[in-house]
Amino acid sequence: ARTVKEFVKHNKRIVPVITLPDLASAIPLADTLSSCGFQVLEITLRTEWALAAIAQLKQERPGLLIGAGTVKNETQLLQSIDAGAEFIVSPGLDAKLVQQAQSNNVQMIPGVMTPTEIMEAENQGLETVKLFPASLAGGADFIRSMASVFPGMSFFPTGGITEDNINDYLNMPNVLCAGGTWLSPIPLLQKGDWNRIHEIALRC
Ligand code: 3PG
Repeated sequence: ARTVKEFVKHNKRIVPVITLPDLASAIPLADTLSSCGFQVLEITLRTEWALAAIAQLKQERPGLLIGAGTVKNETQLLQSIDAGAEFIVSPGLDAKLVQQAQSNNVQMIPGVMTPTEIMEAENQGLETVKLFPASLAGGADFIRSMASVFPGMSFFPTGGITEDNINDYLNMPNVLCAGGTWLSPIPLLQKGDWNRIHEIALRC
């Protein structure tokens, strides 16, 4: 199975977190972002067409790594895997969901914000967790202080990250990649303003 780690090694270490206003935006948005070097996209299950968008992107843009985000329960997890999601991002840590993703051979990246949760994730065999919401959970300083306690764990922070603070995160060796919604603001998506999105993406 392909992983986020292998993709970000050769591409940007930034993952756009995308809430699509409609299905028709999926391909033009993905093309705009991938033309700027973003090859890993997280489609959040916050709209009814998210699963269809994941399936379409998987089929029509096989060079991208498409994950499902905001996965909170078993139904959403199985639907995401069926749609072809190659990684699963959750706002929190649920042991059963982690096991289910593992048994389907799909990478699960659960949200954590405490050492207890990181420990639980580590004991479930995970090597990457999402620090969420990163800016409220202690930000880059928190991740830095976890390095000596959890040397094998890498972080994928999201929540409150922008082009102004992303390098605070990316500069740390235990940050695999960082993500957020600033690369695909809903008002620009609604207008189909791919030029403005292209401009933002080029700056990152
Ligand atoms: C997420 O699901 O990871 C967050 O919604 C991203 O947070 P942001 O909107 O602050 O980038």
